[in-house]
Amino acid sequence: QLHGSITIVVFGASGDLAKKKTFPSLFGLYRNGFLPKDTRIIGYARTKMDRDDFVKRITQYMKIGDDPEIKKKLNSFLEITSYHAGKYDEEASWKDLAQYINKVEGNVEKKNRLFYVALPPSVFLDVASGVRGHCYSEGFINRIVIEKPFGKDLESSRELGRDIGKLFKEDEIYRIDHYLGKEMVKNLMTLRFANVFFGQVWDRRNIDNVQITFKEPFGTEGRGGYFDEFGIIRDVMQNHLLQVLSLVAMERPISTDAEAIRDEKVKVLKCIEPLKLEDALLGQYVRNGDKPGYKEDDSLSDKDTNCPTFAALVAHIHNERWEGVPFIMKAGKALNEAKVEIRIQFRNVSGNLFKNTPRNELVLRIQPSEAVYMKVNNKHPGLSYQTLQSDLDLTYHRRYSDLKIPDAYEALILDVLRGDHSNFVRDDELDAAWKIFTPILHEIEGKKILPKEYKYGSRGPDELDDFVRKYGYDRLGANEYKWPVQSVS
Ligand code: BG6
Repeated sequence: QLHGSITIVVFGASGDLAKKKTFPSLFGLYRNGFLPKDTRIIGYARTKMDRDDFVKRITQYMKIGDDPEIKKKLNSFLEITSYHAGKYDEEASWKDLAQYINKVEGNVEKKNRLFYVALPPSVFLDVASGVRGHCYSEGFINRIVIEKPFGKDLESSRELGRDIGKLFKEDEIYRIDHYLGKEMVKNLMTLRFANVFFGQVWDRRNIDNVQITFKEPFGTEGRGGYFDEFGIIRDVMQNHLLQVLSLVAMERPISTDAEAIRDEKVKVLKCIEPLKLEDALLGQYVRNGDKPGYKEDDSLSDKDTNCPTFAALVAHIHNERWEGVPFIMKAGKALNEAKVEIRIQFRNVSGNLFKNTPRNELVLRIQPSEAVYMKVNNKHPGLSYQTLQSDLDLTYHRRYSDLKIPDAYEALILDVLRGDHSNFVRDDELDAAWKIFTPILHEIEGKKILPKEYKYGSRGPDELDDFVRKYGYDRLGANEYKWPVQSVS
């Protein structure tokens, strides 16, 4: 799609996201030959920095090692990369940036431009209008990549959408949800639609419940000021987990075209009724030994906050395929482990010949250590006829041993360069997502609902096991079964 040259402007180039993700991903693409031949990269931010500072900052998180080839590539990458400082809300700065871009581009034939906005919402609109007013490249391709949060609820998201809509066309906008760039999330469609046996059992007749779990072993750790405004539900559930859910639950798209996929995602989201407080378990972590509680975070302004750092929420999908199958989304900070997975638990075998056999489960481990495994019952090998729980196992680092899985951002930036919207969030999809989440968020805030306490480093609130059991999750065999995760770095 992109012929000729492109200029990539990264706004917020001095920030965390840019140094941890955007620039390392751009370099990852460059060194593997995925950036168009004539690419120029410009970092833009308010901070005044000289070239050395800038280079130090953006290379900090790149994995270079001692390989002279990679070092050489890094040097040539840095030759096409430069930094320009300026304000976000000042006409003169925008004019200046426009001139700078033109100067960097020289007399290239095609002035295609990609604007990557790695900035908080407070300056987002200033940047979008500055770009549109001064840096938009008439007659060529312009793409703008934006990061969440996309509003705080249905109303604010619509307002933001209207404002951006006045500046850019929907097909120029790429709303990033980096979970859509993760390998196992991208694998969902293939697993579901390229395997006859999964296709056949993917419904209410065979599946009892679905759990989508996000666990992080660390707390907000100084990021509480940001987090408190959003909470775990907005931070990872309304976006990342709901995106995963829609890929698990959607109908088969008519093709693999971006719009066909997004149409199906929107359709299934519209079948989900707004979440209810009675289907929710909220938690907030408290001190455990030397690990501080959430409210002890210095960056918090409201020390009495009821902001949830953990939530388990149950979505009910009212359609022919899923009626009666609870989709349990669980997410929490400061838990006992780092893990993101999808767990599909099947129904009991009817008229089972064998007593006490656990249910089949299909688990898709998104991270760490990507894996797909199916818990199955097997005859105990040897002279015994007892059943034994075992697994069919597709662990990536064993099966695809020399494969390097790209960072989610690398995959997504490449999609933007190719003009592929499949893994980005469309405006109506965002709208449908907020409709599901807005009432419960308003209720939690309006009624000041108190979350249950859980200890830093624990599995979450004590009530969790009973909660998931209430929605059908059967733990038979769960305690004996251990998945032999071997993390790879
Ligand atoms: C971000 C959230 O969107 O996703 C963070 O704001 C969270 O709070 C992060 O830690 C998790 O992403 P990943 O890729 O580390 O699972």
